[in-house]
Amino acid sequence: GAPVEVDLTPIAEGQIVKVFWRGKLIFIRHRTAEEIKAAEDVTVASLRDPQADSARVKPGKAQWLIVYGNCTHLGCVPLGQQGEYHGWFCPCHGSIFDTSGRVRGGPAPINLPIPPYTFASDTKIVIG
Ligand code: FES
Repeated sequence: GAPVEVDLTPIAEGQIVKVFWRGKLIFIRHRTAEEIKAAEDVTVASLRDPQADSARVKPGKAQWLIVYGNCTHLGCVPLGQQGEYHGWFCPCHGSIFDTSGRVRGGPAPINLPIPPYTFASDTKIVIG
């Protein structure tokens, strides 16, 4: 599939936008300062799939979290800003993800993966 360009300008802080790349759902989340802090203030070693938030975003772009949009359990679409950590909540079997898209509860075995993307400018990403 061809790369997909996404203009970030219209995505408000606190908003999650869905796009498709290679037929796969991707969430683009414009995180608030509070959501970033919550993602960073975690003991990484305590996580089921230990990954620092800084390893899941681009340097200097912590406000933008880009993750695949299907639950890593059986593929349902998790609901944003819900669940104990206000990241995502999967309604199918109750997996809970934090504001970094990392699994924090329920049957999902791993974090929501990060698709390949780059910043083409401060306000534009290219997925793929
Ligand atoms: Fe999400 Fe099962 S598909 S918890």
